Amino acid sequence: MPHSYEHDVLIIGSGAAGLTVALNLPHHLKVAVISKGKITSGATLWAQGGIAAVLDNEDSVENHIRDTLSSGAGLCHEDAVRFTVEHGRESIEWLIDSGVNFTRDENAQLHLTREGGHSHRRIIHAADATGHAVSSTLSQQAAARENIQLMESRVAVDLITNRKLLLPGNRCVGAYVLNLDDNHVELFRARFVVIATGGASKAYRYTSNPDGASGDGIAMAWRAGCRTANMEFNQFHPTCLYHPHAKSFLITEAVRGEGGYLRLPDGSRFMDRFDARAELAPRDIVARAIDHEMKRLGADHLYLDISHKPADFIRKHFPTIYEKCLEFGIDITSDPIPVVPAAHYTCGGIMTDKRARTDVNQLYAVGEAAFTGLHGANRMASNSLLECLVYGRAAAADIARRAADIPAPPNAPEWDESQVRDSDEDVVISHNWDELRHFMWDYVGIVRTTKRLQRAKHRIDLLSREIGEFYSNYRVSNDLLELRNLVTIADLIICSAMQRNESRGLHYTLDYPGLMHEVKDTVLVPTSFRTKSP
Ligand code: FAD
Ligand code: SIN
Repeated sequence: MPHSYEHDVLIIGSGAAGLTVALNLPHHLKVAVISKGKITSGATLWAQGGIAAVLDNEDSVENHIRDTLSSGAGLCHEDAVRFTVEHGRESIEWLIDSGVNFTRDENAQLHLTREGGHSHRRIIHAADATGHAVSSTLSQQAAARENIQLMESRVAVDLITNRKLLLPGNRCVGAYVLNLDDNHVELFRARFVVIATGGASKAYRYTSNPDGASGDGIAMAWRAGCRTANMEFNQFHPTCLYHPHAKSFLITEAVRGEGGYLRLPDGSRFMDRFDARAELAPRDIVARAIDHEMKRLGADHLYLDISHKPADFIRKHFPTIYEKCLEFGIDITSDPIPVVPAAHYTCGGIMTDKRARTDVNQLYAVGEAAFTGLHGANRMASNSLLECLVYGRAAAADIARRAADIPAPPNAPEWDESQVRDSDEDVVISHNWDELRHFMWDYVGIVRTTKRLQRAKHRIDLLSREIGEFYSNYRVSNDLLELRNLVTIADLIICSAMQRNESRGLHYTLDYPGLMHEVKDTVLVPTSFRTKSP
């Protein structure tokens, strides 16, 4: 069995972002797409609501831009927003041409639903299982392409750069990858490397995300010398199903878009006390309102209710949610759904430009792992899959343009395991996983204070040292790699949050309730790569 590979392009991650890059690359390039678990293992598979794009004649690019800027609380980069929205329609057409079956109305027109922050109906969807339709279609397409090698059960450990090889230049030339089937670390060399590893919401105790959303790509890029931006803006989705056996199950915002109401335990509505748009206010406002009411009432959940709509309508629009809730004894055509907020989306990430290039040459970042400037201080619903498509296609176009000019990667040494042994105390890993996710939820969650952030920083510094030591002494495993990355992610979130002395969008601190005059991103530079103060 070979333990070393060479490709033109190595794509780490097989969600919407990674597969969009792979499928838009020229057929003569030899491409590897690796994923931690199954090819469909990322957040993409679980997307419910849909993809935002201007597809209705009553709507306009300017409307979509305005809504995105408004949800982003003044921090979106307008050029990135315009770039994304202007390329929306063609990206959706590419998905339809690739075979994704979106829901259509009785006139065979694409059905558009609505979500928070959107002033128009502009969410294209496949009932309430859009991610499943996108993920299964793109992975089938990729499996059928001769130049694309799909490799499951592979966990990227670290990027290989010229700098690590003590060669001149600032180039990424591959990655070390743990093969979970035989527990060996393999060497992947490539002319281009694309990080498409998704988000980092696993840093929090409660999350809508699947296992594996541990921010690996962001942490690897940081170690390789890339800057990150706006990591303090972790989005909390207002409505995850509250039930002891329902792990991470989301109730899509489209339920509110189609007329669902949020209710207190006594049945009364409350959102109009917080925002004139009530249930359709942007997500940060709704999540904070729910958090506020739960704390005020000492409640462990509130309710989302769509039972006033006809039962046929509910079953047709939300078949997955209907079935899932029934499994837990909740009939959503007659009962309100118990809900709580949960960590959902990483708005910050690896800084990229409009071609998805990062600070390291030949290293690209796309999808939730990247920071493009689109989302600002609060991502508007369903703009994420759109970003995966638009920037995935832009990255592929840039790689195609440059491919002929980039030489083969230099040789690199195989992974060296001579100094490590098998771990004899895995309890350190499980204990630290739990501790980190608990204090991130309690101290760095929906409502923050300076004191809580300082407490979290103190703990993360201790964990950092302990995990660093563990990593140097023991053989790597998936749990250890994820924990090592989560420690880095938590540190980036805390340090970014400590730098933002205001309450903007998703970052809300009781010590600085107002806005600063200056509107700026929180950019962090890895210490050993700093040329000047951050
Ligand atoms: P992902 O789809 O998360 O894929 C990440 C990939 O990277 C996976 O293949 C994973 O195995 C791989 N990977 C990670 N680390 C490593 C590693 N170290 N080595 C190898 N491989 C690795 N957005 C919308 O726009 N509309 C929606 O309706 C919507 N609904 C959502 C519902 C839920 C429940 C969730 C969780 C998210 C939702 N989002 C939605 C957000 C959106 O789904 C994600 O932001 C988007 O799918 C991210 O795509 P991605 O390709 O960047 O990453
Ligand atoms: C949802 O369907 O509510 C999730 C949409 C998103 O995260 O963009």
